[in-house]
Amino acid sequence: MYEVSFRGKLKGILRVPSDKSISHRSIMLASLNQGKVIVKNFLRSEDCLNTLKAFKSLGVDIEDDGKIIMIRGKGKILKEPFDILDMGNSGTSIRLISGILAGQPFYSVLTGDKYLRKRPMDRIAIPLRQMGATVLGRENGKYPPLTIVGRNPLNGIVYRSPKASAQVKSCILLAGLFTDEEVYVTEPAKSRDHTERMLKAFGVDVKVDGLTVSLGRNRNLKADLEIDVPADISSAAFFMVAAAIVPGSEIVLKDVILNPTRTGILDVMERMGVNFEILNKRTVSGEEVGDIKVLYSPDLKAVVIEGDIVPRLIDEIPIIAVLATQAEGETVIKDAAELRVKESDRIRAVVSNLKVLGIDVEEFEDGMRIRGKAKLKGGKIKSFGDHRIAMSFIVAGLISSSPIYIDDVRCISTSYPAFLKDFFSIITS
Ligand code: S3P
Repeated sequence: MYEVSFRGKLKGILRVPSDKSISHRSIMLASLNQGKVIVKNFLRSEDCLNTLKAFKSLGVDIEDDGKIIMIRGKGKILKEPFDILDMGNSGTSIRLISGILAGQPFYSVLTGDKYLRKRPMDRIAIPLRQMGATVLGRENGKYPPLTIVGRNPLNGIVYRSPKASAQVKSCILLAGLFTDEEVYVTEPAKSRDHTERMLKAFGVDVKVDGLTVSLGRNRNLKADLEIDVPADISSAAFFMVAAAIVPGSEIVLKDVILNPTRTGILDVMERMGVNFEILNKRTVSGEEVGDIKVLYSPDLKAVVIEGDIVPRLIDEIPIIAVLATQAEGETVIKDAAELRVKESDRIRAVVSNLKVLGIDVEEFEDGMRIRGKAKLKGGKIKSFGDHRIAMSFIVAGLISSSPIYIDDVRCISTSYPAFLKDFFSIITS
């Protein structure tokens, strides 16, 4: 049981850890590359380290001196792994690597922790089977462990994804590297586009036309690149909200990724009346980056969050829910049923924990309604083994009338091992 025992305002400058999505992709694409890639500011969290380990097991030459990572890719064909690949808690690792393994002329088995083994994989298994790979899993191929028997070359695909999911889109694009036939993926709303951007940087022909992404003639990765990974807006979100709700706070978060497919939270903060400013906007390794200054914001207003913005802030909804408790009126979150199949059922997790803290909250199948301008009580809450739930309720603990206790905070290491240390570094009395 972890007690959130620190209080005080947030003051100072912080560079939160690097972006998780880009860190995963840097290892994956560099592994398929013919050339040398240096990754600076790689996120050394459990999830990304699991990706790194998996590609070493697939025969890729990866050197990590603790500062930079150097990858000498093998080109597209990797080595059959000697053992099961364990993806831990990481949905991005298992779903993206599956696209790559589908095009390999060998057998591989993927597993993960007890949370990952309950997450649906049919969303990638179905298109990969259409492309000609064999993908087996528990319960008729739905859950990990997954067995993949790849085929080279694969068939092309014209896929209309039922979900706005970057993991599904990326999996298909990665599998698409292993065919010369047409590859088109259309999604119902735009999800994060880091795979498309990075494939282009490696020289692959990627075409984006509205909600459709397709691959062109060149599908080989051939580049000597340096990738500098910016700070993760999903990690910055905890500090942005903490500064907005704790009186007297003023912080600057450095080098945060501002890719428009990721900045839904900034749009919501603007609509809610958070006092913030973007400074020093620039482009780093093909991604927009800036520093975000956030001040205590006493006049917050409730908002409705629905439709196309949802994929642009999907991972931030738990912390946005904490922000909503301090806003005048009722915040409604809809069209977010995907939250039920994240690292935990995040709708259930947020609603049940907010209830413990005395908040008037209603659960919907695809979201929730939160009545704001409320005092948070203390109490015992559960992280459900989910890093973002744990971090969100640590932030809530800064403004609760009595202490908040969280059953398990170890899960935070999946994305942000130094979270508590960074928090202590920026809190002053
Ligand atoms: C991610 C995509 C999102 C997000 C996850 C990271 C990625 O998942 O929730 O944390 O790096 O592609 P979905 O694609 O399942 O929505």
